[in-house]
Amino acid sequence: MNSEVLTVVAPGKLMLFGEHAVIYGHPCIVSALDKYIEIKGKIIDERDDKFDIADYSDSFIRRMISVFRRKYGKKEKIFISSKSTLGRYGLGSSAAISVATVKMLGKLFNIPLSKKKLFNISYEGVLKVQKGKASGFDLASSIYGGTILFDGKTKKTVYLSKGKLPFLTVFTGRKSKTVDMVKKVAQEKLKNPKMTEKILSEIGKIALRAERALKEKKWEVVGKLMNDNQKLLVGLGVSNGVIDKLVKISLDSGGLGAKISGAGGGDCIIVLTDRIATDKIKTNIEKAGGIVLDINVGIGEGVKAI
Ligand code: MEV
Repeated sequence: MNSEVLTVVAPGKLMLFGEHAVIYGHPCIVSALDKYIEIKGKIIDERDDKFDIADYSDSFIRRMISVFRRKYGKKEKIFISSKSTLGRYGLGSSAAISVATVKMLGKLFNIPLSKKKLFNISYEGVLKVQKGKASGFDLASSIYGGTILFDGKTKKTVYLSKGKLPFLTVFTGRKSKTVDMVKKVAQEKLKNPKMTEKILSEIGKIALRAERALKEKKWEVVGKLMNDNQKLLVGLGVSNGVIDKLVKISLDSGGLGAKISGAGGGDCIIVLTDRIATDKIKTNIEKAGGIVLDINVGIGEGVKAI
């Protein structure tokens, strides 16, 4: 057991390809960001756990602690505090805080946790909080860092790169709830099973094509695949007027591709850009009410104790 105060950091994420389809077992591509959750933790001699968590609900932390305690038979109480540079833009703070908490518990109790174990414990916790509706891609991103291909069925993770990718991240100005959007797609799948399954499987195929194009740095191809993916997300019913407008402005201003990143309905879109178009895209997006975030995509490092 470790009696010191320990610090763990875990990155946020952005989905590049494959949102929604990954829940139904298809592959997706996700990048870790250079924005992090930082937690400090300590074993305390108290009757209850204690938290000082600015901005976030403690439900994920509590659940991680209870899964870990049950698995490793630990009873000692924990204090955890957190701070974040992720903001409230839907950039994976719940996943980052979940992964950071499990990593912290391993360190506090001197239990070595492989990446796979970290994933399994945090995924069990997240499934409980979100009532079975989560693919776990965001946990994998926070654990591994860089840009990864994540298989929704096997939960296997493959590194694609660790370098910075040329995406702009744009907050649409609207908050969205992932659970609501996931429910919406599930309802659509009940109403129109054939069409929805076809869309989901097309999205999965695009993710695999994008894997290759990203590895080969074929940006024109990546952009085209993003636009194809976005059309399919519109077909799933997870886009809206604000997103459609920002996507169109990005492409009209010289973006190579633009799409929802994540559940849709709000939060962020990503735009693939080159050096020449970037300033024009930024100006036009901000004129239309979008907020270009100061974020580097793909260079986030996986969870670590510091
Ligand atoms: C949300 O960022 C992405 C979804 O596919 C949900 C998930 O995979 O858990 C909509």
